[in-house]
Amino acid sequence: MKTIEIPASTPYTVHIQQGCLPHLGQHLSQLTAPCTAAVISDENVFPRCGETVCASLQEAGFYVLTYVLPAGEASKNLASYGKVMEFLAENHLRRSDVLIALGGGVIGDLTGFAAATYLRGIPYVQVPTTLLAAVDSSVGGKTAVDLAVGKNLVGAFWQPSLVWCDPDVLATLPDAIFRDGCAEVIKYGLLGDAAFFHQLGCHPVSEHLEEVIARCVIMKRDIVTEDERDRGVRQLLNLGHTFGHAVEECSGYTLSHGHCVAIGMAIITRAAAELGYCAAADVDAVEQLLESYHLPTASPYSLSQLECAALSDKKIFGSTIHLVVPESVGHCRLVAVPATELRRWLAAGGVQ
Ligand code: GLY
Repeated sequence: MKTIEIPASTPYTVHIQQGCLPHLGQHLSQLTAPCTAAVISDENVFPRCGETVCASLQEAGFYVLTYVLPAGEASKNLASYGKVMEFLAENHLRRSDVLIALGGGVIGDLTGFAAATYLRGIPYVQVPTTLLAAVDSSVGGKTAVDLAVGKNLVGAFWQPSLVWCDPDVLATLPDAIFRDGCAEVIKYGLLGDAAFFHQLGCHPVSEHLEEVIARCVIMKRDIVTEDERDRGVRQLLNLGHTFGHAVEECSGYTLSHGHCVAIGMAIITRAAAELGYCAAADVDAVEQLLESYHLPTASPYSLSQLECAALSDKKIFGSTIHLVVPESVGHCRLVAVPATELRRWLAAGGVQ
């Protein structure tokens, strides 16, 4: 069992323990008086874990409501958000009640944003059911929905009251979804912990999930504590994301986020070596580790396609882009790059 305290503007605990899912209600009852708990989940996750979570909450004295959305990024929009809000209002939820986000990043982001805005803010609990959500999106309080013109364009910073992570749930994931999370895990090693990065090559993530998740959450805690509002150092967590998002966009979101982040990390590391920021040996290390987790390292899209997609990112304001650039395995830095230079970086990263 690992418990990690997150000293954010509203502090909370990340609890990571194999087999902890049936004990959520008991733990939550120590944090809040009996109330209504609205479980928000999706059609893939709810049949797998919904009954366990709802029974646990009911046994602990909560009145439980459930709202289940179709699975996938398409649910992370204003229409679904509106439906969740109507559901909460129709059921008379009050500020003293709680939302439970039972799912991966989509459910966590959507439920978090509903919690941030319903009645101007009610508490919510993150119960991540994917590795990617466990190591990244469930921690740090970034909540959002997508607009037609871009991802995560409407959102809020709203910290959860608790993150309850059962690695046994993640271990039953389809292989591709698990590998998605492995890309984010590798990101943490490349970003800030060379020893962890090299361990991932010798000891597969799946064999020591609790420790791996805890290591990533501790790194995220340290970054988020320093920069909760994403104005500086938190942007380092976007390692591999600028070019990864461009690949995702080019694929029409048919390629998964983690796979695109893997490609983005490989491109930026190759570019960093080519432009003199890191050594060629670092490129070999990154490509080999990604490949050992059966993650891709090359863009299926052309230089012009990626440049166009990267420049159309609605989160790029002005003419400068902050790239997260590896200096060695375990050390990265933010480099301000004029938008006109992006093509040179992509070409240096091996995109043709
Ligand atoms: N997922 C990146 C962040 O939380 O800042």
